[in-house]
Amino acid sequence: MSFRDPSRPAPEFNKVPKHIAIVMDGNGRWANQRGLARTEGHKAGEHALLEVVSGALEIGVQAISAYAFSTENWKRDPEEVRFLMGFNRDVLRRRRDQLIDWNVKVVWSGSEKNLWKSVISELKLSERMTSHLNQMTLNMCVNYGGRGELVEATKKVASKVREGKLDPEKITEKTLQSQMFQPSLPDVDLFIRSSGEQRISNFLPWQSSYAEMVFSPTLWPDFTRETLWETVSEFQSRDRRFGSAKDSPAQG
Ligand code: IPE
Ligand code: IPE
Ligand code: MG
Repeated sequence: MSFRDPSRPAPEFNKVPKHIAIVMDGNGRWANQRGLARTEGHKAGEHALLEVVSGALEIGVQAISAYAFSTENWKRDPEEVRFLMGFNRDVLRRRRDQLIDWNVKVVWSGSEKNLWKSVISELKLSERMTSHLNQMTLNMCVNYGGRGELVEATKKVASKVREGKLDPEKITEKTLQSQMFQPSLPDVDLFIRSSGEQRISNFLPWQSSYAEMVFSPTLWPDFTRETLWETVSEFQSRDRRFGSAKDSPAQG
């Protein structure tokens, strides 16, 4: 099945973000608005993820980081946590062939701590089966926390110092970058959060330090390729200066 939908053509974009991070939020509210259990909202979110991946492929995005389960989500009701574990495992299994067909490389960012063994093995199997694919990278962030990632990176750098392999004076941003879960992914250009919440909730703080933030009111299960393209239009209207400055003299 092609990732294209000819009845819904993509707009022409001249400046496409290389790496998009998405906080897929609003599943519970989507379900509750319909008098359904929160888990029904998670189920409905699966289609939205595939929609967004295909919409991103159409416009030539290189990487998507999708926040599927945070290290803070263990605080939820055990029933919901159980559901989310099984659901993440099943989505990876169910969608693997489709992603392979689309030439998408799947990688995992997250901690093994507390994560179900079956989820870890499904993530690792997806990584192995798609490691040769190169149209786009889908970075599945499962049991991910940004501060935790920085702590782990710091520990690895500290060990190198202790072993005498690294001079602390020589530590640079590149040194830390090289210890992140996905060191070869470009920085996040566009950071999207659905559902109207305006916070990053511990998602990719290092990688997003110069990202453009777009907060969409759409609840995640209602998110489509068109919603993604709207956020890309918003991204394109921004003036990214990265700390530089230039005068724009008034006309007339
Ligand atoms: C996001 O939807 C999915 C996960 C955190 C796994 P929520 O479950 O947070 O939905 P809301 O925010 O309660 O609507
Ligand atoms: C962030 O959403 C985590 C995921 C989408 C996986 P949450 O709904 O858990 O975040 P908070 O509680 O609003 O910060
Ligand atoms: Mg939420």
